[in-house]
Parts: sequence; C-alpha cells; structure tokens
Amino acid sequence: MHRDRTPLAQLPTPLHRLDVLSRAVGADIWVKRDDLTGFGMGGNKVRKAEYLIADALHSCADAIITLGSEQSNHVRVIAAAACRHNLACHLILNSADGDGPARGNLLLDKLAGARVHKISSVSERRGAITALVSRLRESGRTAYVIPIGGSNAIGAQGYVDATAELAAQLAALPPRPTTLLFATSSGGTMAGLLAGRHVAGLDVGVMGIRVDADEGAAEGISFVARDAAQARGFSYGCAPEDVPLVADYVGEGYGIATPECIQAIRQVYRQEGIVLDPVYTGKAMAGLIDLAHKGAFDGRRVVFIHTGGEPSLFAADAIIIDALVRPAGQA
Ligand SMILES: Cc1ncc(COP(=O)(O)O)c(C=O)c1O
Repeated sequence: MHRDRTPLAQLPTPLHRLDVLSRAVGADIWVKRDDLTGFGMGGNKVRKAEYLIADALHSCADAIITLGSEQSNHVRVIAAAACRHNLACHLILNSADGDGPARGNLLLDKLAGARVHKISSVSERRGAITALVSRLRESGRTAYVIPIGGSNAIGAQGYVDATAELAAQLAALPPRPTTLLFATSSGGTMAGLLAGRHVAGLDVGVMGIRVDADEGAAEGISFVARDAAQARGFSYGCAPEDVPLVADYVGEGYGIATPECIQAIRQVYRQEGIVLDPVYTGKAMAGLIDLAHKGAFDGRRVVFIHTGGEPSLFAADAIIIDALVRPAGQA
C-alpha cells in the first residue's frame, strides 16, 4: 500500500470543552472539531481523501470513480479533491430526490464539475462501477475506484493520523479516563481510530454510534483496522468483538432522523453554536446525551469527534426542517 498523503486539511483541528452542554447533561464533554478540517466544507472525509487521492495519483490514474447517496459527504469531498488535482471525477449516486435542483452536498459535487451517474438502487452499484471503468478504459482513461465512504485501509490512514493528533492534545490536559464517541457507518473512521489507538498506545475508550443497521459492521471494521495498523508496521489482532459499536440510536434506518436526533441538533446549536447534521452527527450526539443522562460517563471525559456533514442539513426534507424550527417547548 502506498502511504503518501496529499495535504488538504487544516490540521490540527481544535479540541475544546463544551461547557454549557456539559452542565446540561452532567458530564465532562469535549469536542474534536473535525467538522473544521476546512477543505470542501470539511468533515472526516477530508482526512481519508488525503490518502486516497495520493494513492490514485501514485497509481497514475486520471479519473476517479466513487459512489454514495445523493447527499454523501464522502462524495462531496472526493469531488472537490479530484478537481483540485486535475483528475476527472465520476460519481455513482443513488438518488432519492429525482431531478430537483441540486442542494446541499450535490450542489457542491456539481460545483466541482463532477459527472453524476444516477442509479435507482444500491443493488445497481456494482454493475454501474464495472460499466463505467470499462467505458473510461475504452476512451483511454485510467480509473481509480474509491469504495463507499472511502473506508478501506488507505482512507483509514487519515484517522490513524487523527488519533496521534488527538493523543498530543489530550496529553496537554489533566489526565482523566476518556472515551472517544463518534458516528459510524461505513467504518473507515472507526477502523482508523482503533488502529491509531493501537499504534499510538493511547489509553482511551472508543464508542462508535451506528447511524444505520449493519449486522456485519464489526467484522468489516476489525478487518480494515488490522490492515490499517499493518500499513504502519504494527501487528494488531483486532477482532469483531474488539469493535465497540452501539446500535441503539439508529431508529428506522440510515438517513431517517429520530426525534432524539432532531432534539440533539437543536440543543447543541442553541447551547454551543455548533451545527450537527440529521444523518450522522445528530444521531451520535443523541446517543451521547442519552448515555450521559444514564450516568455512562460518570468520572470520565467524553470527546465527541465531530465528523462534519453540515451541508446535508441544507438539503433536509420539509419534515425535518419543520421539526428543527418548531418553537421551544413543542419538541
Ligand atoms: C458526517 C459524517 N460523519 C460520520 C460518518 C461515518 O464515517 P465512516 O463512514 O467512516 O464510518 C460519515 C460517513 O459518511 C459522515 O459523512
């Protein structure tokens, strides 16, 4: 595996305490601001893109193919990073919105000049990639395919780095048992954090709040974590049972905001001026708040890794917007 990075992010991202929220939930809550990685509106995907784009350039590709939902944050960042590096970018998007005006992440994908190929269901993904790779090859292009969420051992390197960055920031604080809590879906962020914790020898708990139901998630994450550590020269026997996932806050499924998610977005904006999104960080924060109220973090520091995703808030459907802006007391 090639392990260069093409710098895109503004690093280190800040780590700071959330005083009002801490008081409100009776726990010591901090936030690692990976929403402020800066490139293409930021988020966790920028750290992954630094390694994935470097690998694409190293393999002499001149076109990138990636995939996701129409409001994918990963896709938005890859489109911007590909454009910055003069790589053609093709996006295979399963679309919920049909042909309406481009909003949120999709607007930014188009702003970056990416070519969008819409499919109507996830079952069409594999066939669409194969067809596109051959079409590009026939036209003399070399395509580099980035998997969903950028979640392989290459993308995960970004979070091996992030863990070292966080370790240095935590070392400057008074020692306290600490848990890292964040939203997890395709798993590359969590795999990188687990590998990074092993590589850095960092003594912290890790808690991934699932935003979708995926029975095989722990297995996939442990596999990528092992590979990601190996790429750094470390042997890491991460097993599925070493991947601490919490699936209690998924609700009806991916992209369907729960009432607690809506409430968490509102609370954190009003108390801390920090924007969360209805797909990922809102659900993770709903988990954090609920667990804090139940005393799960008593005596501990919790670091919420803010993985970004704000653009999708501006493409939220009318029901979510209505719930978010409902006057206080009518939640
Ligand atoms: C804003 C945001 N947070 C968290 C995640 C989850 O990251 P991962 O897919 O690496 O589990 C994503 C993935 O798309 C995301 O866009």
